[in-house]
Amino acid sequence: MCRLVGTDPAALASHRRIRHEVFVEEQRIFDDSDGDGRDDDPATVRVLATVQGEPAGTVRCYQLGGGTWQGDRLAVRRRFRRAGVAVALVEAAVAAAAAGGGDEMVACVQVTNVRFFEGLGWRRRGDPVPYADGRPHQVMVRALTPSGPGGGPPPIRRDRGRPARSPSRP
Ligand SMILES: CC(C)(COP(=O)(O)OP(=O)(O)OC[C@H]1O[C@@H](n2cnc3c(N)ncnc32)[C@H](O)[C@@H]1OP(=O)(O)O)[C@@H](O)C(=O)NCCC(=O)NCCS
Repeated sequence: MCRLVGTDPAALASHRRIRHEVFVEEQRIFDDSDGDGRDDDPATVRVLATVQGEPAGTVRCYQLGGGTWQGDRLAVRRRFRRAGVAVALVEAAVAAAAAGGGDEMVACVQVTNVRFFEGLGWRRRGDPVPYADGRPHQVMVRALTPSGPGGGPPPIRRDRGRPARSPSRP
């Protein structure tokens, strides 16, 4: 369900379209575009999730320096939410960062999503800080190796305990 976008133009277009749909049109965090310099960097890793062949969600990650990687732009299209797509995307990004040699992953998440990340083994670092649109965001961290600087246990997978629901339609 999740794959790396690489240089496939169609997958790349889906990645950008979903981000625009969620961060510009839905959440209005950005006025025109949520793109930045990381999008021009060929080292940036992008993950695309599909459900029954349809692009459903996306995330990207990149190395900040040393063993620290950052994940951001986690977005799932509305009609595919609550079906486990974001969990799969976060796990794919974590796996990509670990494969890239990372020992710690950070993410600056909307405070409404802190519990979601905590459920996946991430921990809060510091207090919430204002983001681009002024909304408070929380830095979260997760160790990619048992002895990584994020501390604590190795990455955990939440046992969802049930099959994913079918995506709802608008
Ligand atoms: C946040 C978002 C990525 C979640 O995507 P999703 O595919 O619906 O999430 P999942 O289905 O993988 O969620 C898995 C579980 O986490 C729960 N969950 C989802 N969002 C949550 C949240 N904000 N807080 C707490 N739990 C949450 C789900 O209820 C589900 O629990 P369940 O298995 O007990 O039902 C999606 O709602 C979205 O794109 N929102 C707008 C953009 C955004 O906020 N991006 C994140 C920026 S930090």
